[in-house]
Amino acid sequence: TITLDPGAAGVEIPDSMYGVFFEDINYAADGGLYAELVRNRSFEFLPADNASFTGLTAWITPGTTADDDGRLHERNRTYLRLAGGQSLTNAGYNSGIAVRGGALYDFSIWVAGSAPLTVTLHDAAGQALAAPLTITTRGDGWAKYTGTLRATRTTDAGRLTVRAGGTGALRVDEVSLFPRDTFRNRPNGLRRDLAEKIAALDPGFVRFPGGCLVNTGSHYGYDAASNYERARSYQWKDTVGPVEQRATNRNFWGYNQSYGLGYYEYFQFSEDIGAMPLPVVPALVTGCGQNRATDDEALLQRHIQDTLDLIEFANGPVTSTWGKLRSDMGHPEPFGLTHVAVGNEENLPDAYFARFVKFRAAIEARYPQITVIGNTGPDDTGATFDRLWELNRQAGTEMVDEHYYNSPAWFLSHNERYDAYDRNGPAVFLGEYASLDNKLFNSLAEAAYMTGLERNADVVRMASYAPLLANIDHVQWRPDLIWFDNDESWGSTSYQVQKLFMNNVGDRTVPSSLAGPGLEPQPITGGVGLSTWATSVRYDDVRVTTPAGETLFADDFSGGADAWRPFTGRGAWSVVDGAYVQSDTAAQDTMVRGADITATDYDYSVKATKLSG
Ligand code: AHR
Repeated sequence: TITLDPGAAGVEIPDSMYGVFFEDINYAADGGLYAELVRNRSFEFLPADNASFTGLTAWITPGTTADDDGRLHERNRTYLRLAGGQSLTNAGYNSGIAVRGGALYDFSIWVAGSAPLTVTLHDAAGQALAAPLTITTRGDGWAKYTGTLRATRTTDAGRLTVRAGGTGALRVDEVSLFPRDTFRNRPNGLRRDLAEKIAALDPGFVRFPGGCLVNTGSHYGYDAASNYERARSYQWKDTVGPVEQRATNRNFWGYNQSYGLGYYEYFQFSEDIGAMPLPVVPALVTGCGQNRATDDEALLQRHIQDTLDLIEFANGPVTSTWGKLRSDMGHPEPFGLTHVAVGNEENLPDAYFARFVKFRAAIEARYPQITVIGNTGPDDTGATFDRLWELNRQAGTEMVDEHYYNSPAWFLSHNERYDAYDRNGPAVFLGEYASLDNKLFNSLAEAAYMTGLERNADVVRMASYAPLLANIDHVQWRPDLIWFDNDESWGSTSYQVQKLFMNNVGDRTVPSSLAGPGLEPQPITGGVGLSTWATSVRYDDVRVTTPAGETLFADDFSGGADAWRPFTGRGAWSVVDGAYVQSDTAAQDTMVRGADITATDYDYSVKATKLSG
């Protein structure tokens, strides 16, 4: 029997309760949400995507790349030298360039030099996909040339070729092909089907641009120069302005990103779908398992200033430096930024917090109306989590970002997680969570858990599932909310759950109680186990006990470990010397007892001796 008490004052649920978290992981941006069809359009890509690196990832051409004073722009350094009679062909992303018969495609190219150019869209066998386009370039200085192609048939495996006539030498850069049909028909816009799937969620906010992408983007440091030899951390100023003047970079997830989808586009998209923009800025401490703090006060101050400039870019008047850039890019009105998160999954609590308070003090002094969100580390529990909560509580942080990825059993057994949270402490932004698979049961566990979030909406003010997008040819992390290939996309069952909740956010909860037979915990199957983030972690003496302390099963692996297996299908666990088990993958794994167990309570504890990792 469910008893409702409509007269009682339930908690208010903010309209922005449920949102999305976009990160460029799983090739979510280029070749995904960002509608550009030419891969490596500016010849900047680092070796990350191409072992025999020449800056020519995705290109076939006898031309050669150069990085010298003849470049198009300081941040777009490399260009292609092409002689008359030579051509360049781009293979696009994955299977190729996806075009739809009858649709229009806007071509553009930057060229220095004079020549007749012929632009063709064709399949891998050379069969035409559109009538050719001819363009004549003139003069020694860089200039942009444009034209339109209409596709005559549909394919997801097209190619784009530009052939130079004449005999002169050309410098070529920023070769682009965009579908005319983008989300809201925005130029430099977003792939319609993907953006529409996100919009259909009706999200209350968009958290961007990461994730680990933000605070650990650099393998060289926070201030490395961005050119095709060196990657650097994600810095918002690299991502704004005319696209031909934007940097490219190798991201945390190990591949190149063009920054064509940059901060302006994130703000515009948030506005287009009626969601609150919620940027995350790096705190100069490398979270996400890389425990390194940058001790450079001048650099820290520069990043703090960058964050103030970001707020000016979003909200400042058109007469301000950064407000003017926003206006020049096409949006004189402010974007209405209200929240900024500093840091992501921070592993060094005290080092992080020492920097966080400086960010917060500077932001509050200049923009007291902005909520500065603090961090609680990479997990739902543990010493780092506890210490960060303690520091945030002591400092009176308004809101903190929690993350966790767990089994469905965890979500089912932790519905009451927030019931006991301090109502006078920081509010919670659940910036990342997911039950660890893309099966219906995972989604049901998430749905059940979300009822607990809503019941505690006075504490949990915002929540977003993660990650949002996965290119099926480049899956680095699963589960994911929306999957896609070059021309199709589909939502997971978790997508349907999120959509259901986001499109039906109530004004307040109605207190209720539940009584009757059959309410005892139901059996679960699938086992219980261990999870880890590390590459090569070793465990011995695994023991599973019931809440009453009774040993359910134990294994010292002396007789092998056949009874243990990876739960999610990603792990590679093996018995080493018959004495312990070892994982040899960097992905997040869960190891479980192979034989399904039947449990009447979800609070089993798993203990093991961790040998290393
Ligand atoms: O959502 C994928 C990753 O998970 C994010 O980048 C990171 O914050 C978390 O570890």
